[in-house]
Amino acid sequence: METDQLEVVRTISHLREAVARYRAAGETMALVPTMGFLHEGHLSLMRQGRSDHDRVCATLFVNPRQFAPGEDLETYPRDEAADIAKLQAEGVDLLFAPSVGEMYPTDAATTVLVTGITDCLCGASRPGFFEGVATVVTKLLLQALPDTAIFGEKDYQQLMVIKRFARDLDIPVTIRGGLTVREEDGLALSSRNAYLDQEARARAPELFRAISHAASEIASGANVDQAVMEARERLRSAGFNEIDYLDHRDAETLAMATDISRATRLFVAAWLGQTRLIDNVPVV
Ligand code: PAF
Repeated sequence: METDQLEVVRTISHLREAVARYRAAGETMALVPTMGFLHEGHLSLMRQGRSDHDRVCATLFVNPRQFAPGEDLETYPRDEAADIAKLQAEGVDLLFAPSVGEMYPTDAATTVLVTGITDCLCGASRPGFFEGVATVVTKLLLQALPDTAIFGEKDYQQLMVIKRFARDLDIPVTIRGGLTVREEDGLALSSRNAYLDQEARARAPELFRAISHAASEIASGANVDQAVMEARERLRSAGFNEIDYLDHRDAETLAMATDISRATRLFVAAWLGQTRLIDNVPVV
């Protein structure tokens, strides 16, 4: 357990003051943006940051711009005191937890729009989602100007979108992915797992099992359409009421996979009652 105090800042100018102190001491910094309700997946990203940098800065901001009307902005789980305790125990140096007003002046008129790779998967099923993510992450990167920013591979398309705009906009930050952390039964950790009741929680690991099985079938030469169809069938039998997508795609371009000699992944988003779960695995 670290004894150094976690410094909590809520304004962009205080964030910049803290980062300037680190820089003046010649220190490097990793940034781990989150929407809070931290779990082991987030904490593994903090550890990844810690292993390569002198300082780790987490951000906690439930970004209203990435929720469409009717989505779960109001009910999104929040527990700032518990998050602060976890970051403190993890030895994180700095937490930036701004208000909505601090992040978005009322006359804010700028949106970061990434085209192409946002047309499919979550970009297709959650219109406006990636504009919200790209806008807030651009702001966080420019506010903190870390050496590296780390995002979980569970949101794989998000990671690819962030890598793309950081490159396109010449933002001088290295974007890294962190491996998905899973429960023992395979369910990917997610703050939204808190929505699952006991019955849904028991069914949820079938998401990972279905795509893992299909991925190993495809890797050993099975027909892709057949493997995907069987995985969809498996999800329906397990009680998933709607499947937004279950696709085999290129791991870099996110186009439908046609060339199995390139890295590919299986991506899924499906609903258990009112809860939308996503996951993805490499086809190896
Ligand atoms: O993955 C998340 O928690 C969010 O989309 C992010 C990257 C913190 C932006 O709000």
